[in-house]
Amino acid sequence: MSSIKCNYKCNEPLSKHTTLCIGGNADCFVEVETEEQLVSLLKFINENSIKFFVIGGGSNLLFSDEGFKGIVLKLSGEFCKYEISRNNVICGAAVSLAYLAIKTAEHGLSGLEYLSAIPGTVGGAVFGNAGVKNCSMSDIVDKIEVIDYSGNKRVLTKNNINFEYRKSDLQGNIITKIFFILKNADKNDILKTISQERKRRINSQPIGTKNAGCVFKNPESDSAGRLIDSLNLKNYSVGGIKISDVHANFFVNEDNGCAQDMLKLIDFVKDEVYKKYSIKLETEIKIIK
Ligand code: EPU
Repeated sequence: MSSIKCNYKCNEPLSKHTTLCIGGNADCFVEVETEEQLVSLLKFINENSIKFFVIGGGSNLLFSDEGFKGIVLKLSGEFCKYEISRNNVICGAAVSLAYLAIKTAEHGLSGLEYLSAIPGTVGGAVFGNAGVKNCSMSDIVDKIEVIDYSGNKRVLTKNNINFEYRKSDLQGNIITKIFFILKNADKNDILKTISQERKRRINSQPIGTKNAGCVFKNPESDSAGRLIDSLNLKNYSVGGIKISDVHANFFVNEDNGCAQDMLKLIDFVKDEVYKKYSIKLETEIKIIK
């Protein structure tokens, strides 16, 4: 490991790297700053058959209380850079989506404003096809650059990627760069939309709490939050995890909750919704074992 020139920490608490503030220790937590480092690290991982996981902003993840037996890899350094030239935006995967939305708006470029209140990195948002009601990352991405788990670099245009609701077929690839072609629009109008999106979120979601966004995907033509709320489950808690009283599809780590509490609450809610509506909720948050 020391032959690879990356910053790494052993026994790093994953609770420090997730918005839920949950997760035991990763055997090794590596910050990769360049493509060269990434390729060398993947070579090392493959040669030694090490389990690994790539983390973005940690805003949609649940790690177990036992932690992660292997390497957790986070892109930083050159992956946090972006360039804007006319309508073209080239962005490293580790750039924050909210930050890029503001920067493109300041250049009078429209496209990211409706997605501006989604927490996390641009790479993570593309991988999970994050979105709001009428707009998802797949609507605005032009192409991406990836390095596959064997260390090969490829460019994938939007048509080569299969995006679905909160899902892509990019498993086996690490997204390194994202390319957007955005439309010109009035800067003040775009900034106004960003500000409205933020207000909408503040009014309807538990902003500022320890959560991982919506816990469940919405079932077809309904909202998981509405279904859970209809069962009067707001404020219901298991251990330190409580169902938000603002939006019932958000589970909040209120009091030193752990992954076990979260998993118990997920199972409980799934059972209750199934008993009442015969609907099987699917988790949107990624559970890492
Ligand atoms: N509702 C309730 N009670 C609740 C929550 C919602 O009655 O506790 C009702 C609302 O009043 C509304 C309906 O359910 O009539 C839909 O609620 P909302 O507008 O909040 O949207 P959602 O379907 O719950 C989706 C996305 C969110 C995204 C919002 C806004 C999913 C799983 N969720 O939520 O995305 O921010 O639309 O566009 O697709 C996320 O993916 O992590 C996420 C938060």
